[in-house]
Amino acid sequence: MRHSHITATQAPEDSVQIIKRVSPYLWPKGQAWVKRRVVWAMAMLLLAKVVTVFTPFLYKAAVDALAGDAANPATWLGLGAVGLTLAYGGARLMSNGFQQLRDAIFAKVGQRALRQLALETFTHIHRLSMRYHISRKTGGLSRIIERGVKGVDFLLRFLLFSMGPLALELAMVSAILFFVFDVWYLAVVVATIWAYVWFTFKVTEWRVKIRKEMNDQDTDANQKAIDSLLNFETVKYFGAEAREAERYDVAMAGYERAALKTSYSLAFLNFGQAFLITGGLVAVMVLAAMGVQQGKLTVGDFVMVNAYMIQITMPLNFLGTVYREIRQSLVDMGEMFTLLEQPAEVNDKPNAPDLKVAGGALTFEDLHFGYDDERAILKGVSLQVPAGQTVAIVGPSGSGKSTIGRLLFRFYDVSGGALKIDGQDIRDITQTSLHKAIGVVPQDTVLFNDSIYYNIAYGRPDASREEVEEAARAAKIHDFIMGLPDGYDTSVGERGLKLSGGEKQRVGIARTLLKNPPILLLDEATSALDTQTERDIQDSLREMGLGRTVITIAHRLSTIADADQIVVLEQGKIVEQGRHEDLLARQGRYSAMWARQASEEEAA
Ligand SMILES: Nc1ncnc2c1ncn2[C@@H]1O[C@H](COP(=O)(O)OP(=O)(O)O)[C@@H](O)[C@H]1O
Ligand SMILES: [Mg+2]
Repeated sequence: MRHSHITATQAPEDSVQIIKRVSPYLWPKGQAWVKRRVVWAMAMLLLAKVVTVFTPFLYKAAVDALAGDAANPATWLGLGAVGLTLAYGGARLMSNGFQQLRDAIFAKVGQRALRQLALETFTHIHRLSMRYHISRKTGGLSRIIERGVKGVDFLLRFLLFSMGPLALELAMVSAILFFVFDVWYLAVVVATIWAYVWFTFKVTEWRVKIRKEMNDQDTDANQKAIDSLLNFETVKYFGAEAREAERYDVAMAGYERAALKTSYSLAFLNFGQAFLITGGLVAVMVLAAMGVQQGKLTVGDFVMVNAYMIQITMPLNFLGTVYREIRQSLVDMGEMFTLLEQPAEVNDKPNAPDLKVAGGALTFEDLHFGYDDERAILKGVSLQVPAGQTVAIVGPSGSGKSTIGRLLFRFYDVSGGALKIDGQDIRDITQTSLHKAIGVVPQDTVLFNDSIYYNIAYGRPDASREEVEEAARAAKIHDFIMGLPDGYDTSVGERGLKLSGGEKQRVGIARTLLKNPPILLLDEATSALDTQTERDIQDSLREMGLGRTVITIAHRLSTIADADQIVVLEQGKIVEQGRHEDLLARQGRYSAMWARQASEEEAA
């Protein structure tokens, strides 16, 4: 990993880390156009600020021209009061024009950085282990990306283009006040701004807490209301309307208190800010007024000082909001970067070669595995599957059958033993080549919310229309699809909910057929279906298995009786192994399971 670990807390050093983390996107190596744009945007920013700072001079000159002051340097330009006023308007327009140019030039850099960050996070999430995905809510992950990217956007715009320029302007105005007037003006401005920033940050910190309290109270009242309405009947049964109203009112009273505190504190913040700003403004203007009285300054100087003060204090009004938002952005970004730094559990070895499939013989050597260290799931499973043969794994639920499949696909690494395909340990080859070699039909096929065609073609996106239909025919779903009003363009709905279980499974089989892998893993592919549908699909599956190595995990034994080899798994160990007839003859676990299922089927 390139970057150090960042947590989602708000310590200042973390903020610095996060800002550092974003900067490479704004100044990327080898992307000259980005750097060029950044430089131009900065130039526009500087121009805009210089013009802005110069504008009050024109205003002052116009006032002096009106007051008939001969010492006015602007008369050198030969401009009268009207001309100076027009120049003043022009300067204001120019300042805004440069600002807009700056935004337009920078927009592409910002958007590109956001896109890249979002893509990086998205790709990274797909790389993370199954363990991580199972323990996190998908909605939560996408919200982290969304909020994180928004945070970066906000930070770019406000820190770079609002707070940065403001600081620059403050510095320039301070310099002007110092050189054109004297050090007292500078001192008043610096003291005012310092007091203002300090006051704003402190009060905002305090208000963040109040706001949180208000939100909590709001959630609480909401939950009480919803819970009460959901229990509508119960409330009636116990004649508890008054009690419920009372409970709701207590929650609402809490919200009322917190909301009032929020308003009061806002009023306090606003007035405090106004008090400080006005104090500074009046102090500077008193200094200027005294200067005019003493004849050291012109009336123009007096209005210029006023214009400067208003110019620099206006953006300060948003400081509280901006400060709060920036803090929130930093938290959101911290979360995103923490996610980005989550290490992937299963990694390719450096320079790992691709898997070379020669028939697809599988060797499981003394597999040991547990999802947690405390609880072993597989306790020494050894199995040989010669190329092109079918092995069936049966056994009670929870015995570890699916786990074997997950290990073969390398969702997890074994804690002991080895899994080999044609003699190659799957830890020594690339995951991409491994995943290409194995086709999986799970118990529940989940489909993308798109057309049937898209979902089948997902197995091999470069497949032709004929190949897609061929796969659908082999999975015995083509005729069904052709019978739909929209045919292959029919939308399957979210997760494929518009299709029945059997139809969905067949789409799943078709897309795996299209992938055409040498090794096939069927994990209870038909268990969720009724017996008739299962029989129909079983034929497709049998055809699909021809010429491939197949691991089939099954619940109904009748579907796997013709396998080359049957393995009975119990509590993570193989307890019986052989062909159907041998196992029946042995009168052990398998034959007992067989007899039970046969009598159940008869009863049905
Ligand atoms: N992600 C997981 N984390 C922890 N335990 C798991 C996980 N997945 C499965 N297990 C446990 O592992 C055992 C074997 O699961 P599995 O291989 O899915 O069984 P089955 O034979 O029914 O396919 C079960 O007891 C299950 O509770
Ligand atoms: Mg299972």
